[in-house]
Amino acid sequence: MPIVSIKSSSKQFEVEEKSIIFDALDNQGETLPHGCLSGSCGACKVEVTKGAENLKPPSEIEKNTIEAIKQNYERMHGKNSTDQKTIRLSCRARVLGDVEIDELK
Ligand code: FES
Repeated sequence: MPIVSIKSSSKQFEVEEKSIIFDALDNQGETLPHGCLSGSCGACKVEVTKGAENLKPPSEIEKNTIEAIKQNYERMHGKNSTDQKTIRLSCRARVLGDVEIDELK
């Protein structure tokens, strides 16, 4: 089964393939920051620090919310500041293989 790691805490969770990150970790007692749980508020944003290719590609709603998050982030941190970052929503992203995530800093 795939492993989801949280970089800042070094915690690791074995999860079912195709499970949603938020749900899979919440079921194991690790509740990540969240809001709507439906892909529109962006409160559950994470940076994928390893294994971004092991997540199912984002749906349209996730893409739109990530785009808004990127625009806000670049307003605060400078143009192109998200170029090297993979941002995903933990309430939407489905795990296909090992990934490492962290808080978006
Ligand atoms: S909790 Fe609102 S987008 Fe994920």
